[in-house]
Amino acid sequence: MAAKADMEKIVSLCKRRGFIFPSSEIYGGLSSCWDYGPIGVELKRNVKEAWWRAIVLERDDVVGLDTAIMMHPRVWAASGHIDSFTDPLVECKSCHLRWRADAVEGTKCPKCGGELTEPRMFNMMFKTFMGPVEEEASIVYLRPETAQGIFVNFENVVTTSRKKLPLGIAQIGKSFRNEITPGNFIFRTREFEHMELEFFVKPGTDKDWLDYWVKERFEWYVKLGIKKENLRVRQHGKDELAHYAKDCYDIEYLFPMGWAELEGIANRGDFDLTQHSKHSGKDLSYYDAEAGQKYIPYVIEPSAGVDRSVLAFLADAYDEEEVQGEKRTVLHLHPFLAPIKVAVLPLSRNEKLVPLAKEVFKRLCSTFVTDYDDSQSIGRRYRRQDEIGTPYCVTIDFESLEDRQVTIRDRDTLAQIRVPIEHLEKVLEAKLKGEAFDASPLWATRQK
Ligand code: GAP
Repeated sequence: MAAKADMEKIVSLCKRRGFIFPSSEIYGGLSSCWDYGPIGVELKRNVKEAWWRAIVLERDDVVGLDTAIMMHPRVWAASGHIDSFTDPLVECKSCHLRWRADAVEGTKCPKCGGELTEPRMFNMMFKTFMGPVEEEASIVYLRPETAQGIFVNFENVVTTSRKKLPLGIAQIGKSFRNEITPGNFIFRTREFEHMELEFFVKPGTDKDWLDYWVKERFEWYVKLGIKKENLRVRQHGKDELAHYAKDCYDIEYLFPMGWAELEGIANRGDFDLTQHSKHSGKDLSYYDAEAGQKYIPYVIEPSAGVDRSVLAFLADAYDEEEVQGEKRTVLHLHPFLAPIKVAVLPLSRNEKLVPLAKEVFKRLCSTFVTDYDDSQSIGRRYRRQDEIGTPYCVTIDFESLEDRQVTIRDRDTLAQIRVPIEHLEKVLEAKLKGEAFDASPLWATRQK
């Protein structure tokens, strides 16, 4: 039975093992900003890589894009973000703290008891100035979603990729939102990464494609190891829909603080392309040669947060177990996501063992993300690798010097097998892919 991870334990593990640190920590940190450490950056890269593979590389109907964070300010007028990307806020007349109107009860400030103002709309986009003059005409915004970079490039992509609808355009990149109530570690932050797909379809086929993408995206999390019982799908009520959405489903995850949105899959209809056609004066309709029709495509948008996915993968993989009377903390991460795939551990720093251990490390590090660790006892090193989710440890002992065989230890089952060094890559590769691997022929080789 897996231990339910509480947030404090996850935050502490992330700090202790180099996954995630508070931003600008030596200056006391910056509210809701986080830095990914040496282990965390690998996990985050793997999450993005898994998404990119599933969405772009393993399909022939989606292409990738990487657009600028700062865009023409008229983009945000067209998209509705200047008018509608707002939250109602109340301000305390004494201490001037601002609160989300729906997060306070009554008319008193939760901090000092002062009187609160009437709710006022607050735009969540970060503003800055482009160029040396700080004036109205030079205002630019940090994008609150990557999606608009895709919509304004729709025509460029269709023309250059020569692809027909249905066609998806995918992008991973930073987004910024001046959230009023950030929190829960990396769940809600003001700077985060989006993984967004805008899937352009013929109007009338949008409902089927929405169902399709909800199922696809749900399965993606399950394939990468998230327990099905910790995921659920929830359709938005009419009053919750974003200003651009005709329909929307959230994939929710049972986070340590309760069920919450992990990813949203929206039917944006023809809202965005219509708006950009109107505001730019450029006709963004699509000529469907097969149907002999011209129309503004509808868009199905699976939109996920990289950081929120990282948190879900960490929480789901977290476990505390008893092994031979000792407690161990382990991350049962899917091998594809594991930051380090293999750790090479010489039994000790003995001068005879080290050269062979270094030789093994050198063999493996060009194929797998490999760690080399010879500090402290072997037991403590195993615990450290368990805590960062390393699927396999390779141990070099004195017998290895005689027979050139090493021990592979499995993070989850704790089973150990001995394998000739010359077969190590092959065995590890099969194991990391989840293929059953029969080591007995290797033993036969040894006994000959
Ligand atoms: N383009 C559509 C869009 O941005 P959203 O529901 O606002 O939709 C999609 O965001 C996903 O982005 C969320 O499900 C969440 O995973 C992530 N996300 C949104 N705001 C976030 C924040 N402030 N911090 C971390 N992740 C966030």
